[in-house]
Amino acid sequence: MECMPRKAAILGTGSWASAFGRHLCHKWERVVLWGVDEKQVRSINQTGTNPDYLGRIVLPPNLRATLDLSDALVRADIVFVVVPSQVVRQVMGKVAASGALPPGVPVVNLAKGFEVDSLKRLSTVIDEELAAVAPHPVAVLLGPSHAEEVALELPTAVVLSGQDGGDWAHWQAWISGPFFRVYTNPDMPGVEFASAFKNIIALAVGMADGLGAGDNTRGTLMTRGMVELSRLGRALGGRPATFAGLAGIGDMITTCISRHSRNRNFGEAVTGGGQSPDELLAGWVQVVEGVEMAKAALKLGQKHEIELPITKQVHDVLFSGKPPRQAMRELMERELRAESD
Ligand SMILES: NC(=O)c1ccc[n+]([C@@H]2O[C@H](COP(=O)([O-])OP(=O)(O)OC[C@H]3O[C@@H](n4cnc5c(N)ncnc54)[C@H](O)[C@@H]3O)[C@@H](O)[C@H]2O)c1
Repeated sequence: MECMPRKAAILGTGSWASAFGRHLCHKWERVVLWGVDEKQVRSINQTGTNPDYLGRIVLPPNLRATLDLSDALVRADIVFVVVPSQVVRQVMGKVAASGALPPGVPVVNLAKGFEVDSLKRLSTVIDEELAAVAPHPVAVLLGPSHAEEVALELPTAVVLSGQDGGDWAHWQAWISGPFFRVYTNPDMPGVEFASAFKNIIALAVGMADGLGAGDNTRGTLMTRGMVELSRLGRALGGRPATFAGLAGIGDMITTCISRHSRNRNFGEAVTGGGQSPDELLAGWVQVVEGVEMAKAALKLGQKHEIELPITKQVHDVLFSGKPPRQAMRELMERELRAESD
């Protein structure tokens, strides 16, 4: 008889960790969030809310939070990683050092990004950090899934993509719910790259919106953004069918058009002119993954000799002080060519 999982551990206490944990509580007996921020942990346990990250949404009684990593990991049937991409290595290092991760337990990453220093996918980072302990199947769960909407139980669909050897059909069933549909896709490189890359295009759309551009511009940036995503994604081993799926075009559309998208919103704020991107970022409560990803993607593009015009302009606005209006003009004035070139 199939063993019924009981406890899910979630690393992170931010927007997505809280909303995803709330969703899991419909099916799971216990969900434990681990965090490093005392205020968030106290608020979740004492008031059943996480106001800085999830407004007035009420969290269920079978969800609790802890500052003690071993407390979260002990007897967990599965572990979800829901922290900013640039701290995944540090957090997984702590997990390995804790000695509390039960052997063979699957580890599923929900963060969207690449490690900018090494240009590695986050599943690789997790593998490397867990190499010293018993083997753990690693997967990613990604796709168009704004925390604010999952918390309101609005229909959402995502992709679970795992390494060979994991019983992912089993976990697909345990993660799915009436408002949260999980598909599987074996193309981990494609799913991870697409989910990370689309944030750069959302920054570009936000900048265009801030400059007063219209729907023609939005459609163009998303479409030409998909060209950049597909070209570089294929060079990294991803499959075209993945880019046409939820983690590709699905997440691209959602992130570029949504009022919940912090990447789109950040791009728009950059055009405000009052503060530099650095100053703005310092005051931004939630992580804006596209900023670091713009650096990583540009380096990956150079390595694989793939031109990424939109990515380059976003990068230059964020890191070289280029005015967004000039970036837009340079994109429009590029040498004319065939659409397929
Ligand atoms: N918010 C969403 O709608 C959403 C949806 C899908 C995927 N994601 C992805 O999930 C990841 C997390 O996003 P989020 O929206 O929950 O971010 P967030 O900014 O809301 O929360 C980040 C959390 O990480 C914690 N954290 C920061 N540094 C840490 C460290 N060094 N060690 C341990 N914890 C640390 C913070 O305390 C906070 O609890 C991102 O990669 C994001 O792209 C977010």
